[in-house]
Amino acid sequence: MNQLAGLKIRKGNQDDKPAIMQILATTPEFTPAEVVVAEEVLDCYLKDPTHSGYNVLVAETAANVVGYVCYGPTPLTESTWDIYWIATTPEMKRRGIGKTLLAVAEAEIKASGGRLILVETSSKPNYENTRNFYQSQGYNIVSRIPDFYAVGDDKLTFQKRIG
Ligand SMILES: CC(C)(COP(=O)(O)OP(=O)(O)OC[C@H]1O[C@@H](n2cnc3c(N)ncnc32)[C@H](O)[C@@H]1OP(=O)(O)O)[C@@H](O)C(=O)NCCC(=O)NCCS
Repeated sequence: MNQLAGLKIRKGNQDDKPAIMQILATTPEFTPAEVVVAEEVLDCYLKDPTHSGYNVLVAETAANVVGYVCYGPTPLTESTWDIYWIATTPEMKRRGIGKTLLAVAEAEIKASGGRLILVETSSKPNYENTRNFYQSQGYNIVSRIPDFYAVGDDKLTFQKRIG
């Protein structure tokens, strides 16, 4: 697929919430319980974007929000950051939106003194595209906790060093 022309990455704001919720609700990988937690985290950010510990960037094209990433410094660490959520609108996948969002988040993390980025994901077959995505962007699996999410569903932690 072609990369999207005119893709803009900017900080998320209250007006973006319906579009972000729509992306979460239509992403088949996410369970309803995960969407609830993603909304709580989003609300935390929207209430206090500067001090919540969460950062949200949205990808916008032709005035439509087509993806978002949520990340923040990992509590109780020195310069380690977590990517908590990243998703693109289902009909716009594989157009470079995810990698652009991640690259901008990584640049912001680096500018804030971050040295290590972690992202957790599932070992389930329906997360294979997600794992491919992270690997393609320079992330490596550094830990696996068997049966973490459920029996047969391991937690994988991907890492990228940027310092
Ligand atoms: C993971 C996700 C954010 C990737 O966003 P995207 O905009 O579709 O991905 P990009 O177009 O930027 O892809 C960048 C690279 O990742 C890899 N990749 C992405 N999707 C892939 C897929 N379905 N199969 C194989 N590789 C894939 C490719 O190497 C791709 O580069 P290429 O297209 O030049 O080959 C998106 O697919 C998504 O929303 N997935 C569901 C939600 C999710 O699992 N989020 C992460 C957990 S919080």
